Amino acid sequence: MNSFELNKIAGAVLFCLLIIMGVSQVGNMLIHPKKLAEAAYKIDVPEEAPAGGAPAAVQEEDPPIATLLASANVDAGKKAFGKCASCHGVEKGGPAKVGPNLYNVVGGPKAHMAGFAYSDAIKKTEGEWTYENLYHFLKNPKAYAPGTKMSFAGSKSAKERADLIAYLRSLSDSPKPLPN
Ligand code: HEC
Repeated sequence: MNSFELNKIAGAVLFCLLIIMGVSQVGNMLIHPKKLAEAAYKIDVPEEAPAGGAPAAVQEEDPPIATLLASANVDAGKKAFGKCASCHGVEKGGPAKVGPNLYNVVGGPKAHMAGFAYSDAIKKTEGEWTYENLYHFLKNPKAYAPGTKMSFAGSKSAKERADLIAYLRSLSDSPKPLPN
């Protein structure tokens, strides 16, 4: 390569730089970005928590569990249980899988399966497996029982949770009465 060619290359590089600078200058002249006075997407944040300072999980407005369960569908729940079936068996007296067997869990104590190595997280939560508690647990297991061994993200649909609970309720010799 002789010096003439080198000059050509250097010239080309310089020329490119000039073009780039020129284009960005012209661009700036043509477009004046305007700042919006207000955010385009407004996010409604409640100004203050309701009296009594209810925890966030309870604040949002699902219909009451009794209403949801009244129209819940056991067959739909059985179908939705497909997401649970890899970890939970449901036959009476059946073995545990990754999670405990769920026969007769509704209305029973927390950690209801004898011999299953539950986390302390589940044992520390209050009360029994009422409809209400199951409903909140299934919505977001990690929020309901921080540290739980159940690695399931939660069922975000209120209808699906109600269907699941209706199905779980049916897994019993004597299903618990529905709430009213
Ligand atoms: C990846 C495995 C996995 C999946 C998926 C899963 N679970 Fe679990 N589940 C567990 C484990 C493990 C526990 C025990 C939790 C602990 O000890 O912290 C548990 C606990 C439970 C309990 C409490 C049982 C008791 O005896 O106290 C219920 C109820 C339950 N799961 C329902 C469900 C339902 C309904 C689904 C599907 C929507 C589901 N789980 C999906 C693994 C799973």
